[in-house]
Amino acid sequence: MSWSGDHFRYCASFIVLAFFLTFMFVSGLLEETNKRHIQPNFPDFGHYAGDFVQNIPDNLFPEGGLGKRIVVIGDIHGMNSSLTYLLDEVLYDPSRDTLIHLGDLETKTTQSQAISDSIHVLSFMTSHKILGVRGNNDQKVIEWRTWMDWILSHSGGREWLAAMDKQWPDLDGDHHKAELNDLIKTSEYGDWAKMVPKGWRLLGAHYRVARAMSREHFDYLRSLPLVLYSPAGHLFFVHAGLLPSNPKLPAYDRKQPLSHWPAAADDQHDIAKLRNLQELAVLADIPENKDPSTVLNIRSVTDGGHASASSKTGTPWSQIWNDTMSKCSGMDAGGTYEPTSLPCYPFTVIYGHAATRGLDIKRWSIGLDTGCVYGRRLSALVIDESPTPPFGDNTPPRAPDSQQIGFGDEGRAHVVSVTCMA
Ligand SMILES: *[C@@H]1O[C@H](CO)[C@@H](O)[C@H](O)[C@H]1NC(C)=O
Ligand SMILES: *[C@@H]1O[C@H](CO)[C@@H](O)[C@H](O)[C@H]1NC(C)=O
Repeated sequence: MSWSGDHFRYCASFIVLAFFLTFMFVSGLLEETNKRHIQPNFPDFGHYAGDFVQNIPDNLFPEGGLGKRIVVIGDIHGMNSSLTYLLDEVLYDPSRDTLIHLGDLETKTTQSQAISDSIHVLSFMTSHKILGVRGNNDQKVIEWRTWMDWILSHSGGREWLAAMDKQWPDLDGDHHKAELNDLIKTSEYGDWAKMVPKGWRLLGAHYRVARAMSREHFDYLRSLPLVLYSPAGHLFFVHAGLLPSNPKLPAYDRKQPLSHWPAAADDQHDIAKLRNLQELAVLADIPENKDPSTVLNIRSVTDGGHASASSKTGTPWSQIWNDTMSKCSGMDAGGTYEPTSLPCYPFTVIYGHAATRGLDIKRWSIGLDTGCVYGRRLSALVIDESPTPPFGDNTPPRAPDSQQIGFGDEGRAHVVSVTCMA
């Protein structure tokens, strides 16, 4: 068979195309290398080095009829007046109650009133040393502030930030992206643009809060752990979520912390201690629970067993949590366990972050983000009744409009919420 004209043209264009693709690929690689080359050496913006898990002292947990309460508040997002209103509604008394927030204290908009309200919320939390966990938005504010300190450490950095403040006091980094990029590139500060990490929103809401907050606010945010743990309450607080088991293994696999008794316990009869060891093993032995970005962002687990920040795919992690805890059948059963029955006692997670799912009360997980910032509600969980009433003179107060729920081993809690004006 000989080469016909058609064959030849066909083959030639194929070779040209192959050359072209190779060229594109190589020049793409070179460009990547170049970009990496001029990227400055960024510092550690994340500040994850602090305490990942912090314990709540046992004496803060309502037990033994002392009339104490724990008041947990969902995502506030700078809604200062709603916070004040909710604290009034639950009859918050700092001398008796322990307040805990679930993270995301700051606004998501650049509106100046929202920024100053966010600063009010931060001031309240900071000056009263309120317990809480870090949210994904707090994390972004921490990162921006770290970035700002880094910029200020370069000569000319202070002038650059001051010039941007002056020139664009209200510019929203998100809505005026093109305009902003244009202005930065053509101004005398054009060279600074490469100091902004890829994907960060210069002059956006997180930037504005980071810029407006005090050093004390910054220290407070950085001090927030990713997880709060109450050993006495058998209870975890986290912004987005935790997993009860490794989603890539069967629930009764030997590597799952809930599939066997904790080995390290010296006294196998101290049930409370065994429980605490197993609860901490769930944090320590499940890879997802050790990953900051997962505990700050998770909403679901995909069918393939991956943590996802989306609420549209897979199964809500809280459903998996509640289902798994439902299988815990205590530790005294001895012998072998079926896949439907695990050697553990159930424990509870209280979380925020999932505004689209709203108030989400299951027996072993309680979701408290009710979308205040979207003009919906701000909610609190009041843990107020230990298993040992009556309280006599120490009866804890009860908000008038509250919903009672079963909580923990045998306790009771109440949910209270107020309407927010967006
Ligand atoms: C904002 O918060 C502060 C501190 O909690 C409070 O004193 C103030 O009244 C609040 N402002 C509004 C408008 O609610
Ligand atoms: C959560 O678990 C409890 C049992 O522990 C079960 O009765 C309840 O139906 C579960 N809730 C949901 C929403 O799955």
